[in-house]
Amino acid sequence: MSFRQLQSYYQCAMLEIETKFRVLNEEFSLRYDRNPINNIHTRLKSALSIRDKLIRNNLPLTIESIENNLDDIAGIRIVCAFCEDVYDLEKALLQQDDIELIRRKDYIQNPKENGYRSLHLIVSVPIFLSNQKRMTKVEVQIRTVAMDSWASLEHQLRYKKDIDNSANIENELLTCAELSRELDLRMNHLRKMIL
Ligand code: GTP
Ligand code: MG
Repeated sequence: MSFRQLQSYYQCAMLEIETKFRVLNEEFSLRYDRNPINNIHTRLKSALSIRDKLIRNNLPLTIESIENNLDDIAGIRIVCAFCEDVYDLEKALLQQDDIELIRRKDYIQNPKENGYRSLHLIVSVPIFLSNQKRMTKVEVQIRTVAMDSWASLEHQLRYKKDIDNSANIENELLTCAELSRELDLRMNHLRKMIL
């Protein structure tokens, strides 16, 4: 198999998962008259990043090695308004009988030390080609708007190397993470009052 072929399989798997979430959003909006999903972002890992990650982890630079060792070639991020939507969407995705759950990390229940929160799933989805069916892995991140804005700020700061006083910044980020958690709790409370 060529690298281009591999990339196209991941592209297809990503489309499958994206469609599943769009369908759920549509169904949800008919049933409850609101959209749980604010936005969907998909990305395919670049050849350069794939190579860097294999080298970083001392893995062989082959197609098989990519397939066997890397779970995040295809990535999709779902951003929703309320924390409960995160788990409702997870449940709705995982109960579909063509989806296989490979791994689950709940950084909402167990935030990372820096304050990062998000629900991460590695799932496998079949893609149907003209003469075969292939199970292909996709990394799914589901998070609220508050979690998403914190994560993008933290990501930007991490790559700004010219900032000193970094302990101070880490503390400030942690405080922001706590505030964002508080915001999600209160929004969920508000949701229960109005929906
Ligand atoms: P990677 O090798 O980076 O893929 O890490 P992993 O295999 O341990 O997976 P994990 O589920 O922890 O993180 C995967 C992805 O989640 C990352 O590529 C980021 O998109 C996101 N992520 C994880 N931790 C953080 C964080 O501390 N800050 C931000 N902004 N994003 C994070
Ligand atoms: Mg990654």
